[in-house]
Amino acid sequence: MSKESITLTPFAEDVLTGLQAYNKTLPSKYFYDTKGDDLFQQIMHLEEYYLTRKELEIFQTHKEAILEAIGDGQPFRIIELGAGDGLKTKVLLKHFLEQGVDFTYTPVDISGNVLEILEENLSSEMPELKIESYEGDYFDALSEISESPEKDIVFFLGSNVGNFSQEEAESFLSKLQNFLKPEDLLFMGVDLKKDPAIILNAYNDSTGVTREFNLNLLDRMNSELEGDFDRKQFLHYPYYNPHTGECRSYLISKVEQVVTIGGEEIHFRAWEAIFMEISKKYDQPQLQSLAQISGFKPLDSFLDSEKWFANVLWEKG
Ligand SMILES: C[S@@+](CC[C@H](N)C(=O)[O-])C[C@H]1O[C@@H](n2cnc3c(N)ncnc32)[C@H](O)[C@@H]1O
Repeated sequence: MSKESITLTPFAEDVLTGLQAYNKTLPSKYFYDTKGDDLFQQIMHLEEYYLTRKELEIFQTHKEAILEAIGDGQPFRIIELGAGDGLKTKVLLKHFLEQGVDFTYTPVDISGNVLEILEENLSSEMPELKIESYEGDYFDALSEISESPEKDIVFFLGSNVGNFSQEEAESFLSKLQNFLKPEDLLFMGVDLKKDPAIILNAYNDSTGVTREFNLNLLDRMNSELEGDFDRKQFLHYPYYNPHTGECRSYLISKVEQVVTIGGEEIHFRAWEAIFMEISKKYDQPQLQSLAQISGFKPLDSFLDSEKWFANVLWEKG
């Protein structure tokens, strides 16, 4: 599977590019195969993973105010980027339906498996809901989903934006802003800075589910890309930097070793790291500045009782 000789899948291409770089890295969007989806659903129910609980609390407490802020009595379309299993979104969708709102729900996810689970759940729980889902990457979705004459409200929940560095978030949101029509809105979940120990525990849970979630990507490369990673030779290491607000997860090679992926050799020095995922936390001034740099204007925001998590509503600036 030499990069030069044959056409590679995007997954293979990204993996080889990332592991052949001086600072090894793997894109976290590849966490989500069927096993990864299942592990993430387990993570969402962990006591340490407060993010789901907090965002759910916001939706349960503020659903009336959220509808008032996003709706104007006209039909709209919700495009949810990286929807996952929709555990929290369902609270809002149900409320909107109960209020007789006319809307379509377009969940977007790179995992076809999780979209199937989502669609099954939604059609049994809310048979009247209009769903048009899209399987693929965020930006393919934005350019391929048909333009709507209706107002679009882009949901980007669960602090998915935290999986971007500052520069990536600015670039992603600027592109998103360009895609939106003047009347469209962005409704985004953002994890806020708090006690560093609470943040670190969310990515280093006592039962080891997050470690398993990271190691699962090695298994995925073994099965889908003819790899021979030995997961026992890798250590899961997350750390939080309270200055940057970045929690970064690594898998660290415990020994010097050579791993092959489809015949391509990848050398690891002892204690060499693969950067797996960033989960960035924001404070209010950083959020204001992110909105301004990416061309948005903050309209409203909704917080949980402890101010650990925010759902912000932004319009085109
Ligand atoms: C951390 S989970 C959060 C799911 C959901 N937003 C929530 O709050 O529960 C991230 C989800 O985004 C999807 N995802 C990650 N990167 C993506 C990308 N580049 N394009 C589309 N979906 C992506 C994953 O498959 C996964 O379902």
